[in-house]
Amino acid sequence: MSKPVVLVVSGPNLNLLGQRQPDVYGRATLEDHLDRARAAAARLGLVVEHLQSNHEGDLIEAVHGARGRAAALVVNAGALTHTSWSLHDALAAFDGVVIELHLSNPAAREPFRHTSVVAPVAHGSIAGFGGLGYELAVEAVARLLAGGEGGPPTGSGAAGEASVADGRTPPGAGAPTEKGTRT
Ligand code: DQA
Repeated sequence: MSKPVVLVVSGPNLNLLGQRQPDVYGRATLEDHLDRARAAAARLGLVVEHLQSNHEGDLIEAVHGARGRAAALVVNAGALTHTSWSLHDALAAFDGVVIELHLSNPAAREPFRHTSVVAPVAHGSIAGFGGLGYELAVEAVARLLAGGEGGPPTGSGAAGEASVADGRTPPGAGAPTEKGTRT
């Protein structure tokens, strides 16, 4: 049986990690972070795929392409985190686990970073742990897929879509459900 796919989606400027504001984002490259995610995935019986783009539409297409194919998305949308309602809507239509990820802790930075349009359509957010976050995100995916930690999306959304109005079910807030089912 093939392993569940975790698609890591990386937004604008993350291709410059390692060179870009190392005081904020560190010296590790995106590839270094992906290696950590891949190692965690191998340990947990998952497989990581990755897409980085500096273009909003590419990220949306990647989320669409993951529908029905990937079990989970780990999304570091870069600055689109704070602005992209189109990405928000695409994620809302993804019927699987969604983890928001940031290297830095946006809540401790400039005010414009304090709003995330990804957060309302994510199961949870991991921020401020640098490259460790990539491991933690894959671990969170594995545990949510295994059930017992709140489970994958539930809510009152239309069939095939997670509920935006109600948000994703937070870990521990509800009975585990089979992936893709609705309560
Ligand atoms: C970031 C935080 C965003 O505010 C910023 O625009 C980024 C990176 C992070 O990983 O800390 O590009 O998503």
